[in-house]
Amino acid sequence: MTDHSELEADLSAQIEAAADLEALEGLRVAALGKAGVVSALLRSLGQMSPEARKTEGPAINGLRDRLTAKIGARKAALEEAALEAELEAGRLDLSLPAPPRRRGQVHPTLQVMDEMIAIFAEMGFSVAEGPDIEDDFHNFTALNFPPRHPAREMHDTFFLKPGADGERKLLRTHTSPIQVRVMRRTNVAVGAPQFEVFQDPPIRIVGPGRVYRCDSDATHTPMFHQLEGLVIDKAIHMGHLKWTLDAFVRRFFEADNVVTRFRPHHFPFTEPSAEMDVQCDRSAGQVKIGAGSDWLEILGGGMVHPNILANCGLDPDEWQGFAFGLGVDRLAMLKYGMPDLRDFFAADVRWLGHYGFSAFADPNPASGLS
Ligand code: PHE
Repeated sequence: MTDHSELEADLSAQIEAAADLEALEGLRVAALGKAGVVSALLRSLGQMSPEARKTEGPAINGLRDRLTAKIGARKAALEEAALEAELEAGRLDLSLPAPPRRRGQVHPTLQVMDEMIAIFAEMGFSVAEGPDIEDDFHNFTALNFPPRHPAREMHDTFFLKPGADGERKLLRTHTSPIQVRVMRRTNVAVGAPQFEVFQDPPIRIVGPGRVYRCDSDATHTPMFHQLEGLVIDKAIHMGHLKWTLDAFVRRFFEADNVVTRFRPHHFPFTEPSAEMDVQCDRSAGQVKIGAGSDWLEILGGGMVHPNILANCGLDPDEWQGFAFGLGVDRLAMLKYGMPDLRDFFAADVRWLGHYGFSAFADPNPASGLS
């Protein structure tokens, strides 16, 4: 009988030492593959005498079976190790601190605008909008501005280059053109169809938006925000205006002791006209509402001038109402103590990180900074 123990020991040692599945497969082919050493031995049985085959047969077959088993065992071990390594490499350490999450902030102006709209919505107002680029008619003429009113001059208003028809469009100087767009049926087409906001009276709308004036200091920026209000019905009077604004101010500043005053004023599109001030304390370099003896102007308003109603095709003997325009950024400065309006639009993310609001804040308009 040929002694195969040396071959078996040699192959066994190589199998044990196989570093990976690829090396192991190479060994399997070299021993048990078609051209492998053990396969050659098996083939040699055919040429042996029956006696020799009797002893060699079991020996060689045994050798093949043992090597096959060893390769199988080594394969299982290598596969297990590979899996372990993979799990180890991809291990999640749940105790690691989470990477910082960058989240956008809601700009205070938009936050305050939403708060204001929510308060007026509770009072039954709906929202109407108009285009930033207006025509002279909606911004001035329909609103009763006399031809030589200073607001019609370059030093107050941003005019665009005249169009082919010679008409000079402008960046609206206030949200009051929204009044005209809501009341007047035959709107002059300016901007997109979403600004076709005509309604039959009775009317109760607020109109938020950006407005533009040639102006820049701590409380004025060339672009700022207003919220227009318009109520048209049969028997609306100045008392309704005062109540509505008082109720709004108390709700907005979350204080019952807010004192307001109306000062007579002039606007071409309201008669009588007034400005409203809020009593506050400005002594400690901060504005405090509900205390002190200072006054801060926050809006203009009045009874809609009969000419405006007529310009919009409403009969002034049948309909009347009030209008107001609130400064949105002004109110944001007051409510959240931001001293300089110019910072609002400087696009400084540090400022926004400090004064901005979480997009997931409590939608309750009475909730404060979050
Ligand atoms: N449009 C006026 C302004 O911008 C404010 C206003 C609105 C006044 C409505 C009266 C009525 O100053």
